[in-house]
Formats: sequence, C-alpha cells, structure tokens
Amino acid sequence: MPPVVATVEGIRQAVGDARRRGLTVGLVPTMGALHAGHLSLCRAARAETGFVVATIFVNPTQFGPNEDFARYPRQLEIDRELCGQAGVDAIFAPAVPTMYPANFHTFVEVLDLSAGLCGASRPGHFRGVTTVVLKLFNIVGADTAYFGQKDFQQARLIRQLVHDLNVPLQVQICPIVRESDGLAMSSRNQYLDPTQRRHAVALYQALQAAQRTIEEGERDPEAIRGLLVRRIEDTPGAILDYAAVVDADRLQPLPRLHGEVLLALAVKFGATRLIDNILVQVRAEQRPMK
Ligand code: PAF
Repeated sequence: MPPVVATVEGIRQAVGDARRRGLTVGLVPTMGALHAGHLSLCRAARAETGFVVATIFVNPTQFGPNEDFARYPRQLEIDRELCGQAGVDAIFAPAVPTMYPANFHTFVEVLDLSAGLCGASRPGHFRGVTTVVLKLFNIVGADTAYFGQKDFQQARLIRQLVHDLNVPLQVQICPIVRESDGLAMSSRNQYLDPTQRRHAVALYQALQAAQRTIEEGERDPEAIRGLLVRRIEDTPGAILDYAAVVDADRLQPLPRLHGEVLLALAVKFGATRLIDNILVQVRAEQRPMK
C-alpha cells in the first residue's frame, strides 16, 4: 500500500528520491472518496509516468458556506487501498492547517472563464480550486497532472492557470467514467437515495439527446438548450441549476453551433448537486446553393 504523507517536506522528499532514481512524476489531485473515475486518472498517470502521487485533501476554500464540506465523505484507509490497486506510489494527505496556516493571505483566480456555468452558481468555488491546485503543483513539482473531463470547467481553468502563470507541467484531461446506466461517476452519487439515483441518469440521457439533435443538423444553440431544460424539467425530483451550450474553449455562448461545443448540465436532486457534460464536434453549416 502506498505511504500516506501529511507534510510538505515529506512529499517533497519522496518526489526528490524518485527524481534521483531518474523517474518522471505524475500527480492526481483528488478530494478522496475515490471511485472508478479517479482510479482511471491514477492508471493514466501510472502508464505515463514513473512515480505517481495522488493527493487527498477536502479543500475548504472551494466549498460555499451552505455546501457539503462538513459531510463530504472521508475514507482515507479505503482510498489508500484503492490507490494501491491503481499503482499509486505515494499519497499526499495534508491537514487543513498545513495547506492554510493562520497567516495565509494569497488566492489565485482565473478571470472570465470562471464566471459562468458552475462559477455562477458557486461563487468563490473556482478561486478555491485554482488556489489549492497551484499549491499542490508547487508542493509536488510533477511533470504531468491528471484531471477528469467531468469537471470540464475546472480542467479548462487549470489549463489556463498553467499557461498564464508558466507552471512547468503538462495537464492531461481524461474521459468521464460512467456507471453502467450512464450516470457520471462522482463522490456525491452516494448521497442519492434509490429513487434519486434512478432518475439521476436523466443528465446523461438529456446530453445524449442533445448531441443526437446536433448530429441530425440542428445548429441553433437555444433549441439545444431548450431540449436540455425540458428533459430535466420532465425528470421527477430534478431541479435544474443550469443547462449550457457553449464554445468549449471560451465557455461562451455561440450565435450558431460550430467547432468544439460543450453541452453541460448541473442538476440538483434534493441537496445533491450533480454535473455532467458532453463535447460535440460540430461541422460548419452548409451554405444553401444559389
Ligand atoms: O476535482 C476535485 O476533486 C477538486 O476540485 C480538486 C481538483 C482535487 C481540488 O481540490
């Protein structure tokens, strides 16, 4: 089983030892409560780098005052076992005061890209994410960091952060891992009661229906957004937070669909907020023949 390291000095020492053995370093930042999605990131890191560090830290600065920080699942021993099976070499699991000592004053924020989608519903969330992720990058000093496409906006912001602040590291974004019915894997799925769990597949089904409609030729973003909204409104127990049809790079609406388009949903079932998305490559519209 991989060692659990709680101090900055300890993980730097482990990474330094690996580097002296000539190994490259992969980093998988997580908040724990690991599922098959996280483990796919660990396996990608295992396949591509010589020494794999998973971090497990439930980051208080990315939770709003009425969010689930206190009840977020914490299961370090189970996670350690899972990390071992996925080929992780070391786990960095710091305590909150290690990451945020009493004299902590600095936050980083990726402007504009963090304003819409989840950023609009969760003020301050991405400021907390980008700050902790930059700290983890600085602490571990990896060659490549692995993130999941499920948190598409998060991954997009982290790519921007790395570019803008010249962080010497590659960002790899790995595909969404789904349950057998299509629900995207999430540590928050365990909050759902059996009825909510049954209906939660509506997110993926709505996204797939929207994708099919685009593939059949629809290029009006509002028509696609309307379809997503209706599908969620028709789902028992589902409360729509947002449905977005945006350019995947700028995360901004498009007048007509073309290029790489992000279809994204955030939906609440009771107190549980789920997100999901699909990327669609949209061919340019054919101009009518004169
Ligand atoms: O995606 C997550 O689990 C978190 O937002 C991350 C990247 C580990 C930062 O706390």
